[in-house]
Amino acid sequence: MTNRKLRAGIVGLGVGKSHARGYLSSPDTELAAVCDANAERLALSADEWKVEARYTDFRTMFKEADLDIVSICLPNALHAEASIAALEAGIHVICEKPMSVTVAEAEAMVSAAERSGKWLMVSYNYRYRSDAQWMRRVVQSGKLGQIFHVQVSWRRETGIPGWGLFGSKAMSGGGALIDLGVHVIDLGLWMMDFPAVKTISASTRTLFGPTSHKTWGRKPGETADFDVDDGGVAFMRLSNGASMVLNVTWAEHMEPGEDAFRVEVQGTEGTAIMHVRNYKHEDTLRLYTEIENEPVTVIPKVGFGGPQGHERMIWDLAESLRNGGQPSTTGEQGLTAVQILDALYRSAEGESEVVLSGK
Ligand SMILES: NC(=O)c1ccc[n+]([C@@H]2O[C@H](COP(=O)([O-])OP(=O)(O)OC[C@H]3O[C@@H](n4cnc5c(N)ncnc54)[C@H](O)[C@@H]3O)[C@@H](O)[C@H]2O)c1
Repeated sequence: MTNRKLRAGIVGLGVGKSHARGYLSSPDTELAAVCDANAERLALSADEWKVEARYTDFRTMFKEADLDIVSICLPNALHAEASIAALEAGIHVICEKPMSVTVAEAEAMVSAAERSGKWLMVSYNYRYRSDAQWMRRVVQSGKLGQIFHVQVSWRRETGIPGWGLFGSKAMSGGGALIDLGVHVIDLGLWMMDFPAVKTISASTRTLFGPTSHKTWGRKPGETADFDVDDGGVAFMRLSNGASMVLNVTWAEHMEPGEDAFRVEVQGTEGTAIMHVRNYKHEDTLRLYTEIENEPVTVIPKVGFGGPQGHERMIWDLAESLRNGGQPSTTGEQGLTAVQILDALYRSAEGESEVVLSGK
């Protein structure tokens, strides 16, 4: 254990603000430097957090700011370049999801981490909710019996991001599936300790985005540069014998304002469900089982004390780093998700099943 606080930096101050909350509140870190190409955004946040070291160029920040750890919160297409630059400068990295837009980039990131001996983590912040951790413990305990199916979804009624570069395939690599799908693919596999995906069959669509229907911050009918999917479905065969189905939408006709993600794990002895509506913490869990052949519904009361999500992720990372622990997400897990998404898009485009190497 080292005595001094870890010096942390952030590149990209959109969702980077959620990382900042963690660095500012953790007893193990100080927010030492921030970077954003948008000088106004940079000044606003740096003033609020009283951070003196501010940069518009991340390479200069990596060289000058003497950082131990950096959060990469840039548009997807810049994740690999910035993460590799940080690792090569000897800085641990936590990179926003998806880890990269191509498999080759993700592989290069994992290699850079190996060469540098530094951590490469991926920001899967929903793992750090108390309900997700409870459900994982239940799945891992074997109480559900043999797991035969996992159903994961993230569905939004009106939820196409109208800001940033989310509608650009070149900058984001894909749309709803890469943006929201990556979180629930990760949650489903993480619950089961990462069985490999053997095959995948998917379809995607682009129906609402080009005319800004159901888009945050835009008026319906406004035309937009939009060349990514706004929804899709996939079926996967897993190496543990189970199947997994994914259903993701940025926009669909459903309960007004609904924005919900769900992970359902079905086993021979029980089914566990986490259903999170509009990011709330209340009443998210169910466990269905039988006692003496009678159906039983368990409604777990999980406490949400202490930091959650991004904040807890940063606390966890900093505590593990300072105490010589292990990273709780890895570059390999980020690479796995990118490989799955790549296969998913290839399957949708080719209208055929894709076989992955997973055994
Ligand atoms: N984990 C989550 O729940 C979550 C939520 C939102 C976004 N994200 C991810 O975070 C990333 C950023 O998304 P966002 O919503 O914050 O986008 P955003 O557009 O709001 O913010 C990105 C920021 O990066 C800055 N930037 C762009 N190029 C730069 C460069 N070369 N150097 C320095 N700064 C640069 C922009 O000025 C902008 O402020 C994406 O990968 C997205 O998938 C994750």
